[in-house]
Formats: sequence, structure tokens, C-alpha cells
Amino acid sequence: MKPKVLITRRIPEPIIDKIREVADVFIWEKEDIPIPRDLLETKIVEVEGLFCLLTESIDAQLLEKAKNLKVISNMAVGYNNIDIETATKKGILVTNTPDVLTETTADLTFALLMATARRLVEASDFLRAGQWQTWSPNLLTGQDIFGATIGIIGMGRIGEAVARRTKGFNMKLLYNNRNRKLEVEQELGATYVPFEELLRESDFILVMTPYTTETKNLITAEHFKLMKKNAILINTARGGIVNESDLYEALVKGEIWAAGLDVFEQEPISTDHPLLTLPNVVTLPHIGSASIATRMKMADLAADNLVQAIRGEMPLNLVNKQ
Ligand code: GLV
Ligand code: GLV
Repeated sequence: MKPKVLITRRIPEPIIDKIREVADVFIWEKEDIPIPRDLLETKIVEVEGLFCLLTESIDAQLLEKAKNLKVISNMAVGYNNIDIETATKKGILVTNTPDVLTETTADLTFALLMATARRLVEASDFLRAGQWQTWSPNLLTGQDIFGATIGIIGMGRIGEAVARRTKGFNMKLLYNNRNRKLEVEQELGATYVPFEELLRESDFILVMTPYTTETKNLITAEHFKLMKKNAILINTARGGIVNESDLYEALVKGEIWAAGLDVFEQEPISTDHPLLTLPNVVTLPHIGSASIATRMKMADLAADNLVQAIRGEMPLNLVNKQ
């Protein structure tokens, strides 16, 4: 009898076939919404493999029921939706999908930076609402990107890919990270600065760290007060890293100029959330890695990791080696 695998959302058929070679597959595919929690709790009891998304909370309570589970393959680079400590204790392998989404997510980060600085969404809405009457010297004026100072918080794979993009815009590049990255400093002319100095000096502040107990609420009210009045905050990492109510206050008080957000504390963000009332906030529905090609590569890599683990091999992208 083949081992059982649960896939929590519809993924491309050839990728499911790859998993079918080694396992009997159950897929939640009724609608493009997360698998109901009670079904997840029922199914988790019998499966050896779980192919999941960041929309599933793989917490201790769920893992308690996972008597046969050997591997959790998360179709994302971030894995803060999984209780790694509990999984590790139970000897369950956890894998993610790094590298394949790096450039795509860096593209989106830069697109969001540019859209926020030059007010693209506001401008498009303005035109469609029939408000465009004339070319005007002050119409929808924004902030310059070329030659500005950018501060990247978290110089990991995606941070580096964004850093490379800043060269074409002749930006002054600052960064803060747990440890210095000398090769990035040499190759890209990045300057390592303490966290607060980065906040004080940057025109663009980019949040690019993973979400951990250390980065939760990394940016709060006191930090916005240090930023320039023309500063633009961009977050394409995880919502909880920036305190949302403090961000709202900072924008309303004019402590910073604008924000571009692809991620939120609660996803989907409620449509009556105060942040959505502000014209100087550009909001996206967590689409950092959403190119057709990259989503295919992520699903494929997640399937490979799952299949390797089911076969008893060491998966390529194991995150809990201990
Ligand atoms: C998306 O947010 C990911 O972590 O891959
Ligand atoms: C604007 O379109 C200009 O020509 O300056």
C-alpha cells in the first residue's frame, strides 16, 4: 500500500502526478479557499506527507493528531505558519521553496516601491474616475527613486536581489542584517549601518526579514518617529514585522510619506481596515512570488521535497536539520 499524502489546494496536474508515483493523494480542490480546519484535522491523522500553503496553520494542536506524518512540504519560502519546534520534536521533516522565487519577489518589491513613490494606483484611479481635467504642474507628484537612499532590513536572498536592482537607479544602498555581508558590500557598494541609523537616513525602508519571535513588531511607533518625513516603507516579507496600527498613526500624523504593503498581520486584510482608507498606502494581496513561471517552480520544488522525504531521502530544502 502506498503512503498517503494530503495536498491542501489545487496545484498543476503534472505536479500531482509526480506525487502520485509514490503516494495515494487526497487534494482539497473544491474551491480556491483554504481547506476547512476540521477536514485538515481529520485527514492529518492518516497521512505520511502534507503539501501545504502559508494559509494553513500547522500548529502544535494539529501536529498532536499527526500520528503518521513524516514530512511537511510548505509551498513558500517563509514557514512561520508551521510550529517548527513541535515538528522537529516529533521527528517530522519540514521543507520550503527558497531560491526559485527570489528574483520574482524582488521584482514585485521594486514594482511596489516604484508604484508607491510615484502614486501609480492613485493616478490610475484618478483617471478612471474621470477626474483628469488637464496636465498640471502639481498633479500627482511623488518622490524620486533615482539617486535616493534605500535601506534594506534583512540582507538575505531576496534582500540581495533587491539590492542588485538598486544599481540601475543609482541609489545609495544601506542595509542592516544579523551579520554583515561583506560580499554584498564589495559587489554592490552596500553600507552596513545600525538599525536606527538606517531608519534615520533612508528615503525607502524595505522590510525583507523572515518573521520570527525576534522580528515580530520590529517596527513600531518609536521607529516611525526616527524616519524622514518623506520616507516610504515597503513590506513584502510578513505582516507582523511592522506594527499596523502604529504604521497607520505614523501615516496619519505625517511622520512618514507613504507605505507599500504586500503582507498584513491578518490575511486577507479586512476591507474596513483603517490602512485601506489612506490614499498614500498601496496594498497588494500577498503576490510577491506570483508570476506564472515561479508559481509553477514553487509547486514543483515543493513536490520534489515531499517525494524525496517519502522515499526516505534527505529533501533538498530541509529547514529543520536538527
Ligand atoms: C511567500 O510569502 C513565501 O513565503 O513564499
Ligand atoms: C511632460 O510631459 C513634459 O514634456 O515635460
